[in-house]
Amino acid sequence: MVKICCIGAGYVGGPTMAVIALKCPKVEVVVVDISVPRITAWNSDTLPIYEPGLDDVVKQCRGRNLFFSTDVEKHVAEADIIFVSVNTPTKTRGLGAGKAADLTYWESAARMIADVSKSDKIVVEKSTVPVKTAEAIEKILTHNSKGINYQILSNPEFLAEGTAIQDLFHPDRVLIGGRETPEGQKAIQALKSVYAEWVPEDRIITTNLWSAELSKLAANAFLAQRISSVNAMSALCEATGADVAEVSHAIGKDSRIGPKFLNASVGFGGSCFQKDILNLVYICECNGLPEVATYWKQVIKVNDYQKTRFVNRVVSSMFNTVSGKKIAVLGFAFKKDTGDTRETPAIDVCKGLLGDNARLSIYDPQVNEDQMQRDLTMNKFDWDHPIHLQPMSPTSVKQVSMVWDAYTAAKDAHGICILTEWDEFKTLDYQKIFDNMQKPAFVFDGRNIVDADKLREIGFIVYSIGKPLDSWLKDMPAVA
Ligand code: NAI
Repeated sequence: MVKICCIGAGYVGGPTMAVIALKCPKVEVVVVDISVPRITAWNSDTLPIYEPGLDDVVKQCRGRNLFFSTDVEKHVAEADIIFVSVNTPTKTRGLGAGKAADLTYWESAARMIADVSKSDKIVVEKSTVPVKTAEAIEKILTHNSKGINYQILSNPEFLAEGTAIQDLFHPDRVLIGGRETPEGQKAIQALKSVYAEWVPEDRIITTNLWSAELSKLAANAFLAQRISSVNAMSALCEATGADVAEVSHAIGKDSRIGPKFLNASVGFGGSCFQKDILNLVYICECNGLPEVATYWKQVIKVNDYQKTRFVNRVVSSMFNTVSGKKIAVLGFAFKKDTGDTRETPAIDVCKGLLGDNARLSIYDPQVNEDQMQRDLTMNKFDWDHPIHLQPMSPTSVKQVSMVWDAYTAAKDAHGICILTEWDEFKTLDYQKIFDNMQKPAFVFDGRNIVDADKLREIGFIVYSIGKPLDSWLKDMPAVA
């Protein structure tokens, strides 16, 4: 029986391994992690991450051929194939601080593999890593090899949170990069045969190591760029009276552009886009390509601009101050159908409003108060370390309260900011909400999910990103 061990039981390691176990009943899969609470949760009825369909997959194979354990060394030693899916945060100090990937966790995983291995191993990069990481890992392993043969493969993960299980069941492609030697090709075939249990052959792409590593960074950079492009257009739409939804629809009909990923919003978030672009920027700089680096940096700048622009709209339209005013924040996760708050635009928007002394009442169906307080007090990039190593916030933000439904959040509020596109926000009883708010009552829709005309009929002043402005908003321009 082939034995797989995955180091890192996070948003990637957990779901990917659960799906491999489900689709390959003859393979034994053990997911290991240094975080005891995380492994305990994976072994309980309340999994550590929320992902539609995940519970069902885990229930079907946990205890059969899927196991979660903190006994990292034992399972690594026994495995034939080792996936490494640990954190790759942005460095916060030293060389490349604020840009380069911090490979501390990766390196310690590689050294541990070298320490405990007694048989040949295929080591698979699942984490997103800088190009040429495989070479560094190879060096660590071969310099400590005790005669053991290691093959390094790059198999970046393209799942999107919120649709992870469907993405894993029906991937657009699986990418496997390896050495062009006979041993490298054999390792590629071994991993390919795992995926081939459920993924059609023509969707399994094999490349050299560096192409696979760079493709993941490139994919995230292109996706984020698309969001920043449509968001940049949204600012111009507001200035000219064009409607960004109409523009997106019109350009998306061009088959060269395509209709997906063209929704304007308050900005992108999630653990990957910003981190991976910063990493790409750093790699460009290191390779003497400052113009290319500047080009990609602009994607992040526009994203930051979009969040600032949103806060400025809120403050300026409410008579240029939100001091002491209650603002309801609907949604805190970086997108719907996940509880993940890493780099969510809600953090910057909330901080911006708190900077103007607002009182916030936040509701998100999947995010608890602890997490929100942690996010609002943590330093940039600290979130991307194993949970038990993250600093606990010494104080909480007093002007923030968390509630468990949208109506309580909006009661007596002056304005509502919709920051995540949860479906339930589309069907709220907005008349009831309006009746219980201060007047004039504002809705700032950061995801363009409400029926703005209907809300205006009720009496709200509505701001929708990239849409023609209410006369109220036109009269109160947002100047940074
Ligand atoms: P995560 O933070 O949810 O999980 C990483 C896990 O690794 C943590 O539970 C941590 O305790 C564990 N860990 C760290 N060092 C360890 C060690 N030495 N031994 C054992 N366990 C260790 O991170 P996530 O989101 O799963 O991301 C992992 C990697 O996958 C990152 O490189 C990320 O960029 C990449 N990725 C993430 C995607 C996402 O949607 N979250 C999608 C595609 C790639």
